[in-house]
Amino acid sequence: MNVVPSLAKEAVTASAPAKVILFGEHFVVYGEPAVVIAIDKRAYATVKLRKDERIHIDSVDMRMSGSFKGAKFQAEKGGAKACVKLEPVKNAVQQVLAAANKKTGLDITINSDIPVSAGLGSSAAVATSTIMAASRLLGIELSREQIFRLAYESERLVHGTPSGIDPAIATYGGTLQFQKGKDFDSLNVEANVPLVIGNTEVERSTGELVAAVRHMRERHRYIIEPIIKTGGRIALFAVEALKKGDLESVGDLMNVNHGLLSAVGVSHEALERLVYAARKSGALGAKLTGGGGGGCMVALAEEKKLNRVTTAIVRAGGTAFQVRKTDEGVRVEP
Ligand code: MEV
Repeated sequence: MNVVPSLAKEAVTASAPAKVILFGEHFVVYGEPAVVIAIDKRAYATVKLRKDERIHIDSVDMRMSGSFKGAKFQAEKGGAKACVKLEPVKNAVQQVLAAANKKTGLDITINSDIPVSAGLGSSAAVATSTIMAASRLLGIELSREQIFRLAYESERLVHGTPSGIDPAIATYGGTLQFQKGKDFDSLNVEANVPLVIGNTEVERSTGELVAAVRHMRERHRYIIEPIIKTGGRIALFAVEALKKGDLESVGDLMNVNHGLLSAVGVSHEALERLVYAARKSGALGAKLTGGGGGGCMVALAEEKKLNRVTTAIVRAGGTAFQVRKTDEGVRVEP
Protein backbone atom coordinates (compact mmCIF):
# COMPACT_ATOMS: atom_id res chain seq x y z
CA MET A 1 0.00 0.00 0.00
CA ASN A 2 1.53 3.31 -1.09
CA VAL A 3 0.74 6.53 0.71
CA VAL A 4 -0.10 9.28 -1.76
CA PRO A 5 1.49 12.47 -0.37
CA SER A 6 -1.11 15.12 -1.23
CA LEU A 7 -4.74 15.10 -0.20
CA ALA A 8 -5.53 17.97 -2.53
CA LYS A 9 -8.79 16.68 -3.98
CA GLU A 10 -12.09 17.48 -2.31
CA ALA A 11 -13.91 14.65 -4.03
CA VAL A 12 -12.80 11.56 -5.93
CA THR A 13 -14.94 9.59 -8.38
CA ALA A 14 -14.10 6.05 -9.45
CA SER A 15 -16.02 3.59 -11.61
CA ALA A 16 -16.13 -0.16 -12.21
CA PRO A 17 -17.82 -2.33 -14.85
CA ALA A 18 -20.79 -4.70 -14.76
CA LYS A 19 -20.23 -8.30 -15.75
CA VAL A 20 -21.82 -11.20 -17.57
CA ILE A 21 -20.98 -14.72 -16.48
CA LEU A 22 -20.82 -16.68 -19.73
CA PHE A 23 -20.10 -20.03 -18.06
CA GLY A 24 -20.03 -21.55 -14.61
CA GLU A 25 -22.10 -19.48 -12.16
CA HIS A 26 -22.99 -21.42 -9.00
CA PHE A 27 -20.60 -24.25 -9.96
CA VAL A 28 -17.77 -21.75 -9.36
CA VAL A 29 -18.74 -21.61 -5.67
CA TYR A 30 -17.60 -25.27 -5.45
CA GLY A 31 -14.20 -24.61 -7.04
CA GLU A 32 -15.07 -25.21 -10.70
CA PRO A 33 -13.73 -22.85 -13.39
CA ALA A 34 -15.97 -20.12 -14.82
CA VAL A 35 -15.77 -17.57 -17.62
CA VAL A 36 -16.81 -13.96 -17.04
CA ILE A 37 -16.76 -10.85 -19.23
CA ALA A 38 -16.76 -7.19 -18.14
CA ILE A 39 -19.34 -5.19 -20.10
CA ASP A 40 -19.79 -1.56 -21.07
CA LYS A 41 -22.09 -0.54 -18.21
CA ARG A 42 -20.54 1.00 -15.10
CA ALA A 43 -21.20 2.04 -11.51
CA TYR A 44 -19.72 5.40 -10.38
CA ALA A 45 -18.91 6.25 -6.76
CA THR A 46 -18.03 9.79 -5.66
CA VAL A 47 -16.53 10.12 -2.18
CA LYS A 48 -16.07 13.36 -0.18
CA LEU A 49 -14.85 14.07 3.35
CA ARG A 50 -17.38 15.07 6.03
CA LYS A 51 -16.79 17.15 9.12
CA ASP A 52 -18.54 14.61 11.40
CA GLU A 53 -17.99 10.84 11.67
CA ARG A 54 -21.07 9.73 9.75
CA ILE A 55 -20.95 7.61 6.62
CA HIS A 56 -23.63 9.14 4.43
CA ILE A 57 -24.63 7.17 1.31
CA ASP A 58 -26.89 8.32 -1.51
CA SER A 59 -27.69 5.71 -4.15
CA VAL A 60 -29.26 7.92 -6.80
CA ASP A 61 -30.60 5.15 -9.07
CA MET A 62 -31.97 3.02 -6.23
CA ARG A 63 -33.56 6.17 -4.71
CA MET A 64 -32.18 5.24 -1.33
CA SER A 65 -30.14 7.30 1.07
CA GLY A 66 -29.26 7.58 4.72
CA SER A 67 -26.35 7.72 7.11
CA PHE A 68 -24.57 5.31 9.41
CA LYS A 69 -23.16 6.37 12.75
CA GLY A 70 -21.38 3.27 13.96
CA ALA A 71 -23.90 0.44 13.45
CA LYS A 72 -26.90 2.82 13.74
CA PHE A 73 -28.66 3.72 10.49
CA GLN A 74 -30.83 6.73 9.86
CA ALA A 75 -32.82 6.45 6.63
CA GLU A 76 -33.63 9.48 4.48
CA LYS A 77 -35.02 7.79 1.36
CA GLY A 78 -36.09 4.14 0.99
CA GLY A 79 -37.01 3.31 4.61
CA ALA A 80 -35.75 0.14 6.34
CA LYS A 81 -34.84 -1.50 3.00
CA ALA A 82 -32.25 1.23 2.49
CA CYS A 83 -30.24 -0.06 5.45
CA VAL A 84 -29.94 -3.56 3.92
CA LYS A 85 -29.04 -2.24 0.47
CA LEU A 86 -26.58 0.44 1.64
CA GLU A 87 -24.81 -1.54 4.35
CA PRO A 88 -22.39 -3.29 1.95
CA VAL A 89 -21.19 0.14 0.76
CA LYS A 90 -20.63 1.20 4.37
CA ASN A 91 -18.72 -2.04 5.00
CA ALA A 92 -16.54 -1.36 1.96
CA VAL A 93 -15.55 2.16 3.09
CA GLN A 94 -15.02 1.05 6.67
CA GLN A 95 -12.42 -1.39 5.41
CA VAL A 96 -10.66 1.42 3.56
CA LEU A 97 -10.78 3.67 6.64
CA ALA A 98 -9.18 0.85 8.64
CA ALA A 99 -6.50 0.30 5.97
CA ALA A 100 -5.73 4.05 5.91
CA ASN A 101 -5.85 4.22 9.70
CA LYS A 102 -8.22 7.21 9.51
CA LYS A 103 -11.36 8.13 11.43
CA THR A 104 -13.50 10.49 9.43
CA GLY A 105 -17.00 10.74 8.09
CA LEU A 106 -17.54 10.35 4.34
CA ASP A 107 -20.21 11.30 1.83
CA ILE A 108 -20.68 8.67 -0.86
CA THR A 109 -22.82 9.19 -3.94
CA ILE A 110 -23.51 6.24 -6.22
CA ASN A 111 -24.67 6.65 -9.82
CA SER A 112 -24.97 3.50 -11.86
CA ASP A 113 -26.01 2.25 -15.32
CA ILE A 114 -26.19 -1.33 -13.98
CA PRO A 115 -29.58 -2.90 -13.16
CA VAL A 116 -29.62 -3.95 -9.49
CA SER A 117 -30.33 -7.46 -8.14
CA ALA A 118 -30.23 -8.73 -11.72
CA GLY A 119 -27.09 -10.89 -11.86
CA LEU A 120 -24.91 -8.29 -13.59
CA GLY A 121 -22.58 -7.63 -10.67
CA SER A 122 -23.98 -4.26 -9.58
CA SER A 123 -23.01 -4.70 -5.89
CA ALA A 124 -19.42 -5.66 -6.71
CA ALA A 125 -19.05 -2.76 -9.15
CA VAL A 126 -20.35 -0.37 -6.47
CA ALA A 127 -18.06 -1.87 -3.81
CA THR A 128 -14.88 -1.74 -5.93
CA SER A 129 -15.51 1.77 -7.22
CA THR A 130 -16.27 2.99 -3.68
CA ILE A 131 -13.09 1.36 -2.36
CA MET A 132 -10.95 2.93 -5.07
CA ALA A 133 -12.49 6.40 -4.69
CA ALA A 134 -12.31 6.35 -0.87
CA SER A 135 -8.71 5.12 -0.83
CA ARG A 136 -7.54 7.86 -3.23
CA LEU A 137 -9.42 10.51 -1.25
CA LEU A 138 -7.77 9.31 1.96
CA GLY A 139 -4.34 9.42 0.36
CA ILE A 140 -3.55 5.73 -0.06
CA GLU A 141 -2.95 3.88 -3.29
CA LEU A 142 -4.20 0.31 -3.15
CA SER A 143 -3.06 -2.28 -5.68
CA ARG A 144 -5.74 -4.04 -7.75
CA GLU A 145 -5.12 -7.16 -5.68
CA GLN A 146 -5.86 -5.18 -2.48
CA ILE A 147 -9.01 -3.62 -3.97
CA PHE A 148 -10.19 -7.09 -4.99
CA ARG A 149 -9.52 -8.46 -1.47
CA LEU A 150 -11.39 -5.62 0.28
CA ALA A 151 -14.35 -5.91 -2.11
CA TYR A 152 -14.39 -9.67 -1.60
CA GLU A 153 -14.49 -9.20 2.18
CA SER A 154 -17.43 -6.80 1.95
CA GLU A 155 -19.25 -9.26 -0.36
CA ARG A 156 -18.71 -12.01 2.22
CA LEU A 157 -20.62 -9.94 4.75
CA VAL A 158 -23.61 -9.92 2.36
CA HIS A 159 -23.66 -13.55 1.28
CA GLY A 160 -21.58 -16.00 3.23
CA THR A 161 -19.78 -18.06 0.58
CA PRO A 162 -19.17 -16.02 -2.55
CA SER A 163 -16.63 -17.32 -5.05
CA GLY A 164 -15.13 -13.85 -5.61
CA ILE A 165 -15.92 -13.84 -9.33
CA ASP A 166 -17.93 -10.58 -9.13
CA PRO A 167 -15.31 -8.43 -7.36
CA ALA A 168 -12.57 -9.99 -9.55
CA ILE A 169 -14.12 -8.92 -12.84
CA ALA A 170 -15.19 -5.51 -11.48
CA THR A 171 -11.57 -4.93 -10.43
CA TYR A 172 -9.69 -6.29 -13.44
CA GLY A 173 -12.15 -5.98 -16.38
CA GLY A 174 -11.64 -7.88 -19.65
CA THR A 175 -12.43 -11.59 -19.89
CA LEU A 176 -11.39 -13.86 -17.03
CA GLN A 177 -11.14 -17.57 -16.55
CA PHE A 178 -11.87 -17.60 -12.84
CA GLN A 179 -11.42 -20.32 -10.26
CA LYS A 180 -12.05 -19.71 -6.55
CA GLY A 181 -8.87 -19.43 -4.49
CA LYS A 182 -6.58 -19.64 -7.56
CA ASP A 183 -4.83 -16.98 -9.62
CA PHE A 184 -7.20 -16.04 -12.37
CA ASP A 185 -6.20 -15.86 -16.02
CA SER A 186 -7.02 -12.97 -18.25
CA LEU A 187 -8.22 -14.53 -21.50
CA ASN A 188 -7.15 -13.10 -24.79
CA VAL A 189 -10.37 -13.31 -26.82
CA GLU A 190 -9.86 -11.66 -30.17
CA ALA A 191 -13.24 -12.56 -31.64
CA ASN A 192 -16.07 -10.13 -31.27
CA VAL A 193 -18.57 -11.74 -28.87
CA PRO A 194 -21.92 -10.07 -29.67
CA LEU A 195 -24.25 -10.37 -26.70
CA VAL A 196 -27.82 -9.40 -25.84
CA ILE A 197 -28.91 -9.22 -22.22
CA GLY A 198 -32.55 -9.86 -21.36
CA ASN A 199 -33.77 -8.72 -17.97
CA THR A 200 -36.84 -10.47 -16.53
CA GLU A 201 -37.10 -7.61 -13.97
CA VAL A 202 -37.78 -10.30 -11.36
CA GLU A 203 -35.64 -9.24 -8.38
CA ARG A 204 -33.89 -11.93 -6.40
CA SER A 205 -31.13 -12.44 -3.87
CA THR A 206 -27.91 -14.12 -4.95
CA GLY A 207 -27.24 -15.22 -1.37
CA GLU A 208 -30.56 -17.09 -1.17
CA LEU A 209 -29.98 -18.80 -4.53
CA VAL A 210 -26.46 -19.88 -3.54
CA ALA A 211 -27.95 -21.30 -0.31
CA ALA A 212 -30.69 -23.13 -2.29
CA VAL A 213 -28.08 -24.87 -4.47
CA ARG A 214 -26.10 -25.82 -1.36
CA HIS A 215 -29.22 -27.35 0.15
CA MET A 216 -29.95 -29.29 -3.04
CA ARG A 217 -26.35 -30.56 -3.12
CA GLU A 218 -26.60 -31.71 0.49
CA ARG A 219 -29.83 -33.59 -0.16
CA HIS A 220 -28.80 -35.23 -3.47
CA ARG A 221 -25.02 -35.21 -3.38
CA TYR A 222 -24.47 -38.08 -5.88
CA ILE A 223 -26.70 -36.43 -8.46
CA ILE A 224 -25.68 -32.80 -8.00
CA GLU A 225 -21.90 -33.31 -7.70
CA PRO A 226 -21.51 -34.67 -11.27
CA ILE A 227 -23.65 -31.78 -12.57
CA ILE A 228 -21.31 -29.31 -10.87
CA LYS A 229 -18.25 -31.09 -12.32
CA THR A 230 -19.79 -31.08 -15.80
CA GLY A 231 -20.40 -27.34 -15.41
CA GLY A 232 -16.67 -26.89 -14.84
CA ARG A 233 -15.79 -29.03 -17.86
CA ILE A 234 -18.13 -26.95 -20.04
CA ALA A 235 -16.31 -23.78 -18.95
CA LEU A 236 -12.94 -25.30 -19.97
CA PHE A 237 -14.23 -26.33 -23.41
CA ALA A 238 -15.75 -22.87 -23.76
CA VAL A 239 -12.37 -21.24 -23.09
CA GLU A 240 -10.88 -23.16 -26.05
CA ALA A 241 -13.85 -22.30 -28.29
CA LEU A 242 -13.63 -18.60 -27.33
CA LYS A 243 -9.89 -18.50 -28.04
CA LYS A 244 -10.51 -20.05 -31.49
CA GLY A 245 -13.41 -17.69 -32.18
CA ASP A 246 -15.69 -20.73 -32.63
CA LEU A 247 -18.90 -18.97 -31.60
CA GLU A 248 -21.13 -21.83 -32.74
CA SER A 249 -19.57 -24.12 -30.13
CA VAL A 250 -19.70 -21.34 -27.52
CA GLY A 251 -23.45 -21.07 -28.19
CA ASP A 252 -23.98 -24.85 -27.89
CA LEU A 253 -22.10 -24.89 -24.60
CA MET A 254 -24.19 -21.97 -23.27
CA ASN A 255 -27.34 -23.96 -23.98
CA VAL A 256 -26.03 -27.02 -22.13
CA ASN A 257 -24.85 -24.81 -19.24
CA HIS A 258 -28.37 -23.35 -18.97
CA GLY A 259 -29.82 -26.87 -18.78
CA LEU A 260 -27.53 -27.68 -15.84
CA LEU A 261 -28.49 -24.47 -14.04
CA SER A 262 -32.18 -25.36 -14.49
CA ALA A 263 -31.40 -28.81 -13.13
CA VAL A 264 -29.98 -27.39 -9.89
CA GLY A 265 -33.09 -25.24 -9.51
CA VAL A 266 -31.96 -21.68 -10.24
CA SER A 267 -33.96 -20.95 -13.39
CA HIS A 268 -37.35 -19.24 -13.39
CA GLU A 269 -40.28 -19.38 -15.80
CA ALA A 270 -39.61 -15.77 -16.87
CA LEU A 271 -36.00 -16.69 -17.65
CA GLU A 272 -37.07 -19.76 -19.62
CA ARG A 273 -39.39 -17.61 -21.75
CA LEU A 274 -36.58 -15.20 -22.65
CA VAL A 275 -34.03 -17.96 -23.25
CA TYR A 276 -36.36 -19.85 -25.62
CA ALA A 277 -37.42 -16.67 -27.41
CA ALA A 278 -33.76 -15.79 -28.04
CA ARG A 279 -32.93 -19.26 -29.35
CA LYS A 280 -36.02 -19.33 -31.59
CA SER A 281 -35.10 -15.99 -33.13
CA GLY A 282 -31.69 -17.29 -34.19
CA ALA A 283 -29.33 -16.83 -31.23
CA LEU A 284 -26.35 -19.20 -31.26
CA GLY A 285 -26.94 -19.88 -27.57
CA ALA A 286 -28.77 -18.47 -24.55
CA LYS A 287 -28.63 -19.03 -20.81
CA LEU A 288 -29.39 -17.37 -17.52
CA THR A 289 -26.50 -15.36 -16.14
CA GLY A 290 -25.46 -14.70 -12.53
CA GLY A 291 -27.49 -16.03 -9.65
CA GLY A 292 -30.66 -16.82 -11.67
CA GLY A 293 -34.10 -17.15 -10.03
CA GLY A 294 -35.13 -14.12 -12.13
CA GLY A 295 -32.64 -11.41 -13.02
CA CYS A 296 -30.97 -11.64 -16.41
CA MET A 297 -30.26 -14.03 -19.26
CA VAL A 298 -27.64 -13.62 -21.97
CA ALA A 299 -27.84 -14.56 -25.64
CA LEU A 300 -24.96 -14.88 -28.09
CA ALA A 301 -25.86 -13.99 -31.67
CA GLU A 302 -24.20 -13.20 -34.96
CA GLU A 303 -23.93 -9.44 -35.46
CA LYS A 304 -26.58 -9.47 -38.21
CA LYS A 305 -29.09 -11.21 -35.92
CA LEU A 306 -28.58 -9.03 -32.84
CA ASN A 307 -31.59 -6.79 -33.49
CA ARG A 308 -33.87 -9.73 -34.20
CA VAL A 309 -32.84 -11.46 -30.95
CA THR A 310 -33.26 -8.21 -29.00
CA THR A 311 -36.80 -7.74 -30.35
CA ALA A 312 -37.72 -11.37 -29.58
CA ILE A 313 -36.63 -10.96 -25.95
CA VAL A 314 -38.73 -7.81 -25.60
CA ARG A 315 -41.76 -9.55 -27.17
CA ALA A 316 -41.34 -12.36 -24.64
CA GLY A 317 -41.70 -9.85 -21.81
CA GLY A 318 -38.13 -8.81 -20.98
CA THR A 319 -36.21 -5.59 -21.27
CA ALA A 320 -33.26 -6.09 -23.56
CA PHE A 321 -30.01 -4.34 -24.43
CA GLN A 322 -26.94 -5.19 -26.46
CA VAL A 323 -23.56 -5.11 -24.73
CA ARG A 324 -19.88 -5.09 -25.66
CA LYS A 325 -17.00 -6.33 -23.60
CA THR A 326 -14.77 -3.78 -21.96
CA ASP A 327 -11.14 -4.22 -20.97
CA GLU A 328 -11.24 -1.55 -18.29
CA GLY A 329 -11.71 -2.65 -14.71
CA VAL A 330 -11.99 -0.26 -11.78
CA ARG A 331 -10.56 3.19 -12.55
CA VAL A 332 -10.41 6.70 -11.15
CA GLU A 333 -12.45 9.11 -13.23
CA PRO A 334 -10.85 12.39 -14.32
C1 MEV B 1 -23.09 -14.45 -8.86
O1 MEV B 1 -22.79 -13.45 -9.81
C2 MEV B 1 -22.38 -15.72 -9.20
C3 MEV B 1 -22.66 -16.90 -8.26
O2 MEV B 1 -21.89 -17.99 -8.77
C4 MEV B 1 -22.26 -16.59 -6.82
C5 MEV B 1 -20.76 -16.49 -6.62
O3 MEV B 1 -19.98 -16.97 -7.44
O4 MEV B 1 -20.36 -15.90 -5.58
C6 MEV B 1 -24.11 -17.31 -8.28
